[in-house]
Amino acid sequence: MTEWSTDPAMAASLDAADEFSSFRARFELPPPPKGATESIYFVGNSLGPMPTKAREYINRELDRWAMLGVKGHFEGAPGWADYHKILIDPLCRMVGALPHEVAVMNTLTVNLHNLLVSFYRPIAERHKILIEEHAFPSDHFAVESQIRLHGFDPADSLVTVKPRDGGELFHVDDIVAAIEEHGDSLATVLLPGVQYYTGQVMPIDEIVRAGHAVGATVGIDLAHSVGNVPLTLHDSAVDFATWCSYKYVNSSPGGISGVYVHERHVNDQSLPKLTGWWGNRMETRFAMQNSFDPYPTAESWAASNGTALPMAALRASLEVFDDAGGVVALRAKSKKQTAYLLYLLDELLDGDVKSLTPRDPEQRGCQLSLEIIPDDIDGRAVFDAIEAAGVFCDWRFPNVIRVAPTPLFNTFGEIRRFVDLLANAIAANRTV
Ligand SMILES: Cc1ncc(COP(=O)(O)O)c(C=O)c1O
Repeated sequence: MTEWSTDPAMAASLDAADEFSSFRARFELPPPPKGATESIYFVGNSLGPMPTKAREYINRELDRWAMLGVKGHFEGAPGWADYHKILIDPLCRMVGALPHEVAVMNTLTVNLHNLLVSFYRPIAERHKILIEEHAFPSDHFAVESQIRLHGFDPADSLVTVKPRDGGELFHVDDIVAAIEEHGDSLATVLLPGVQYYTGQVMPIDEIVRAGHAVGATVGIDLAHSVGNVPLTLHDSAVDFATWCSYKYVNSSPGGISGVYVHERHVNDQSLPKLTGWWGNRMETRFAMQNSFDPYPTAESWAASNGTALPMAALRASLEVFDDAGGVVALRAKSKKQTAYLLYLLDELLDGDVKSLTPRDPEQRGCQLSLEIIPDDIDGRAVFDAIEAAGVFCDWRFPNVIRVAPTPLFNTFGEIRRFVDLLANAIAANRTV
């Protein structure tokens, strides 16, 4: 048990003892804005910083393009036609999946649509899909449009689960009860692995068990989970999942996404699917025939040829994770970072700032969602002030600042200084 202290010397000693401190040098962190003396990059939950090697790996592909032109598809190790293959094993380690369960393609919402085509197949008796009441809007839109695509009405078929007691956090019993309530009429459950607004880690195992018990398929949106918290998709028996890689996985703006499909489904040719030639096995792809010869793996969901430049950036980032021992190894530091931040907020800002994120370390990842409490404090002005002072974080209406100290590149010293900057901004923006 760490004995915390508000003394900045404590942050210095935590940094001196940090086994991951050398990994910060493997990123290019944005410089401070004009007028600020340092930048504190606490927004890896939105867009991760650039891994230094991304430039080298992208340049390598640009050079190969310049030198080889079209031959670059098949020449080189790897050529672009095979580039995705080097990403599969590191991604499997990150999400807890088997190699034939993961494919790299597209972006998150597009992948969600593709997976819902296969896994949300409403019929008259079983047509509902359960999501959270305030799901990420893109998921909500995707689900509504899928319901309509099948000729159903979201008013009947879109069902939601709410956080407990009008609050912000979900209780596992409420999720299970909502699934049981809709029972046989439930076709699919689609929930996040980590809730984007509160940072709450959701109980994936219990969700899957409850969904399967009523005969529904279960999908997980891993946008805020991947690279943040350990995942065991295969062992958890999740049916399908997708993620973006530009947040905690630091893979470039709009970077390439991935999909996971449990092995019991990967070779099920009865599943409807939006197919394209890249889901066709390489052995027969260039025979240019009109009979689809799918991979017996998650790759059969790939439609188009791979995008080499975003994959090169993702490669650079995954190497950093693997060199650090992966998300499981980083998790202990992450818990320590958020515990330290919570302690400092309690000691130095109690009454002004409340964390919406659960205090239970198992139910939080890197992100803490900080609510500015008193009515006499203009939360938006506080956010603007800390941003001007060099803190990269984000604002969520009505009064929440999300910060995500991240074990690969953030220090304990930054956490300590962030709390001082926040305290100063609150003091400067109290209206009475
Ligand atoms: C939880 C969640 N789902 C879906 C998305 C949409 O991702 P994309 O724009 O890459 O499709 C995001 C983006 O931030 C997200 O946070």
